Amino acid sequence: MTPEDLEFLRTAAGRDLLDLAAGLAWSRADLVASTAAVRRADPVHAAAAIDVVTARARARGGIRGAGAMLLTDEAVQQATAWPVAALRAGRLAGRDVHDVTCSVGAELAELVRRADRVIGSDLDPVRARMAAHNVPDALVCVADALAPPSRDAVLVADPARRSGGRRVHDPARLSPPLPDLLAVAVDRDHVIKCAPGLDTSVLDHSGEVELVSLDGSVREACLWSPGLSAGVRRRATVVRTTAADAAGPWGPPRLVADGVAVHVEEVTDGDDDEVDAHEEAERFIVDPDGAVVRAGLVRHWARRHGLRQLDPRIAHLTGPRIPDGYTGFEVLEKCRLDRKQLRRVLRQRDCGSLEILVRGVDTDPDVLRRSLSLSGSRPLALVVTRIGSSAVVFVCGPRTAHSNT
Ligand SMILES: C[S@@+](CC[C@H](N)C(=O)[O-])C[C@H]1O[C@@H](n2cnc3c(N)ncnc32)[C@H](O)[C@@H]1O
Repeated sequence: MTPEDLEFLRTAAGRDLLDLAAGLAWSRADLVASTAAVRRADPVHAAAAIDVVTARARARGGIRGAGAMLLTDEAVQQATAWPVAALRAGRLAGRDVHDVTCSVGAELAELVRRADRVIGSDLDPVRARMAAHNVPDALVCVADALAPPSRDAVLVADPARRSGGRRVHDPARLSPPLPDLLAVAVDRDHVIKCAPGLDTSVLDHSGEVELVSLDGSVREACLWSPGLSAGVRRRATVVRTTAADAAGPWGPPRLVADGVAVHVEEVTDGDDDEVDAHEEAERFIVDPDGAVVRAGLVRHWARRHGLRQLDPRIAHLTGPRIPDGYTGFEVLEKCRLDRKQLRRVLRQRDCGSLEILVRGVDTDPDVLRRSLSLSGSRPLALVVTRIGSSAVVFVCGPRTAHSNT
């Protein structure tokens, strides 16, 4: 998208072209005919209009108000999902905030709802122009995040993790580079969103690391400066969305918008973590949410829910019930990691399909599944884990959310 395309799309003729494109079908089968129709109307700006309309469709549910925004497909892929951005903005309520990598403004749109004065900037002038259009209540400019044109506002940053279509894992190769960003932000309150797999121990950072999952998938590791952390060093934020009129898993939602309720469970290293470990499983095995595991807060979460560990080094937990809002597996029997024995047990139990969870043991679930020649009809699960120095397998019922059957 060129700056000229963008200016055109903001005119009345541009809006007409977007309306025309939005009225067409964009499934694979319709693509050629719909593209031709937009080209006939305006051969010069057709590609840009199609990009915006397909990006809006992709953003539906992920960016609030996307239907009226100017977006590109790539920017939508990089955008923070609104429930996560809204929760972050909630922690910055009443503060002045500068989003120094604002892109097209998905996160900025949530910040203006909760923060006080909000500035957005990006190195890419087209994205900054889109952000200014999409979030008129923010002050938006083109600027390098490593030389931010603001003084006291909280710095919010979300360095780009892709380069040439490939994911970047080295913090120094993010854009802007994370070590440089931390050096610039060191004297200011700041929040920096990173990839969840980032090894934060290699960073010069002394505040809080927050791991966030959304509907079961770990989305980000967020670095909060000490001034925003209230003494917390590690936090897991488990976010679930439901329809606004559906019962949530953990009492009242933290927020409700656009017919969606956002429910949150938080665990921090300030919570009690006294749990014992015992190699005998109770009725259920529970695999904690990935945010809890990655934040190193399994014991804290187990304590809260009356669970205990099977082994002090492994994240598989056991207990008499499955915590509300989570899933687990009813234990049927315990075996050795021995293919012959497992084949026999699974045949006796008429097993036809298997979910396999592996922790602490070097076993490929797909290879194991193939080697078990399943031929029955019941879905079951295997929890392959390490207890002390032994690999152990728990043969379980299928994943369930209920403890009372
Ligand atoms: C992952 S995106 C941010 C997405 C944004 N948080 C949202 O929710 O829409 C990263 C952005 O950083 C911008 N960027 C990369 N290097 C930059 C730099 N040195 N200064 C400012 N922006 C930069 C890119 O242009 C891109 O728009």
